[in-house]
Amino acid sequence: MTATWDAEAGELHLRNGTISYLARVLEDGSFGHLYFGPALAPGRSYRHLGRRSFEGFANRLGDPVAREYPTGGAGDFRVPALIVETADGASVLHLAYAGHRILPGKPALPGLPSTYTEQDEEAATVEVRLADAPSGVEVRLLYTIFRDVPAIARSAVIRNGGREPVRVRCAMSGSLDLPDADWELLHLSGTWSRERHVVARPLAPGRVSVSSVRGASSHEHNPFVILRRPATTEEHGEAFGFGLVYSGNFRAEAEVDAFATTRVRIGIEPEGFTWTLGAGDELAVPEVILVHAADGLGELSAAYHRLYRERLARGPWRDRPRPVLINNWEATYYDFDEDVLVEMAAAARDLGVELFVLDDGWFGERDDDTSSLGDWTVDRRKLPGGLEAVARRVRDLGLQFGLWIEPEMVSPRSHLFAEHPEWAVGVPGRPRTESRDQLVLDMSRPEVVDHLFAVLSAILASAPISYVKWDMNRSLTEPYSAALPPDRQGEFFHRHILGVYDLYDRLTRAFPEILFESCASGGGRFDAGLLAFAPQAWTSDDTDAVERLAIQWGTSLGYPLSAMAAHVAAVPNHQVGRITPLATRAAVAFFGVLGYELDPRGLTAEDRAAIVDQVAFYKEQRDVLQRGRFHRLRSPFVGDGNTTAWMSVAEDARRAVVGWYRVLNRADPGPERIRLRGLDPAASYRVRTWPAVGDGIERLNARVRGGDDLMQVGLFIETDRAGTAALGDFHARVFVLEAVEGDPAWGPEEAPLPV
Ligand code: DGJ
Repeated sequence: MTATWDAEAGELHLRNGTISYLARVLEDGSFGHLYFGPALAPGRSYRHLGRRSFEGFANRLGDPVAREYPTGGAGDFRVPALIVETADGASVLHLAYAGHRILPGKPALPGLPSTYTEQDEEAATVEVRLADAPSGVEVRLLYTIFRDVPAIARSAVIRNGGREPVRVRCAMSGSLDLPDADWELLHLSGTWSRERHVVARPLAPGRVSVSSVRGASSHEHNPFVILRRPATTEEHGEAFGFGLVYSGNFRAEAEVDAFATTRVRIGIEPEGFTWTLGAGDELAVPEVILVHAADGLGELSAAYHRLYRERLARGPWRDRPRPVLINNWEATYYDFDEDVLVEMAAAARDLGVELFVLDDGWFGERDDDTSSLGDWTVDRRKLPGGLEAVARRVRDLGLQFGLWIEPEMVSPRSHLFAEHPEWAVGVPGRPRTESRDQLVLDMSRPEVVDHLFAVLSAILASAPISYVKWDMNRSLTEPYSAALPPDRQGEFFHRHILGVYDLYDRLTRAFPEILFESCASGGGRFDAGLLAFAPQAWTSDDTDAVERLAIQWGTSLGYPLSAMAAHVAAVPNHQVGRITPLATRAAVAFFGVLGYELDPRGLTAEDRAAIVDQVAFYKEQRDVLQRGRFHRLRSPFVGDGNTTAWMSVAEDARRAVVGWYRVLNRADPGPERIRLRGLDPAASYRVRTWPAVGDGIERLNARVRGGDDLMQVGLFIETDRAGTAALGDFHARVFVLEAVEGDPAWGPEEAPLPV
């Protein structure tokens, strides 16, 4: 990994074993983009890459000059990265190179979550200074190249080096110009309970964007997009990823211009955003992680998984196996007392569950969702001995105890609102829009963050609590802070999320042993910003096994399995009413952080035994499932989506777990094979199926096979002849592959292989 600056040519080359990123000072003094892609040889000049193709006449307006941090108003008519209104009311900047420095490792971004290094040798950072002489506006562009991942982290700090205040109207995290437009934009979109479905569309002249103006990254769109070549698959072809480390309003946008070049920008949503910088003030914008993959989406995802798992998540829980939990929400909703919880925990303990989570309804007088948010005192009607008593009893059973909170909210029917109505977000004199009967606390006010830190610290210290589920159940409306002056209301959304980060930072530092899981009505804030504080997130309120295939597949494009909480819930499913087999629900939830969302007390003996087996299986394979290299094998978004398959492979490729899922059964569907990935082609693997039911598929695969064979030929999913037609709809199968010594040989069964 190297970061070199050729002083004579004014050329920057960031390079590791797989990628190069090149930029240079252009003739007009601006900082131009040259290249981002597969590694190019060091020590050469690449200035020709930035040259314009049109030589007809000089200074033609609208030429697609590639700049690192483009501004508008001076002949570049595409989407800018930066708009600053200067004291004279103009919004024209000419950012000229003013210097640079190369730093070992990676500096932190003040107030913002970001990736980090543990040793300086893991990365190098280049800070390039740009300045607009007439206004004094300065920009420091930050680029970090990582040694071990094909990723560049970019960010920027905008500084007012002049004497008059300026207003920043748009400050993106990064902008990338690509020399052609033969790309498809992939984004993760949906709504509550249908989060992060994969949407793909070809780029065409004009602009296309996804964004959130909800005050959170949102269920609707995720701050993570991909550009891929139309022919790019999971295994082959080029793709660029843009992962924003931010949880508030964002925009990701691609523009194709008249000359078929593409610009992508990503960062804080500019609509409604303004930020005033007084003399000497600075604004740091969130970082974006740019990934280039030469070999398909699988490689692209693997880069994000590794970086987010190892150098974005932090604290002792980063590397620890995540516990199998049970959550009482769907089992009891608000209707529980201490004995009910302890009975549930006792039944869960017998299943092998490790953590009991008490969800919503333990505080104030919250018997439904119409009251008490903000009143973080234990409801003694339900829990007469307080949290301490219930937590102790749960721990005495041998389980850890976890607690749900929703810090950023206040119910109009609460003591907190009665005392501090001004703490709720809203425009004085106008009605506030309620959603789920609740309002949002103004997290841009330091006193609100201080108050929450004090009351929540007291709660977390009051009992042996090992886990926190931090929920957030509504979008922001009437965005306004009475604590900000009228001309600074454009800062509200960003200040609000900075307040959320501040609270997360303080609580996670004060309670480093607590495992935090983020949640926002399911997956409404599943983003890299929160992963820096909470290493796992509630993926979706939709726990239906079929729906989860699409949600978990989409989520896995940008986020690791260790971040994806996945629960087995009761049937009929509470979100869609579907009845799926227990084994199928588990087979889906295995590919994430496993939990249960059901009442363990009323299980039949058969279901109990099945869950004991599931939990034992998951614990045995936990390392591969939470930290292995994930491969998506068959997409629920391709064709009729009737079958899905994926697998997770241990780092040393000695073990793998494969999941195969079929939504609807069909008469005589014929034999099928799934070609596996990521195995050692020279190794021999024993294949076993889970659950062990002794059917045809199991017999067919019960043999030792070579890694090459499994990757080139594939696992056999025999249908009728193996007797699976009888298995009906919503069927799943899990296979475990373990490397064994010796040559591939026939297993105990000599059943003929299907052809
Ligand atoms: C939304 C979450 O996604 C659910 O899991 C549950 O915690 C409820 N909120 C509780 O209100």
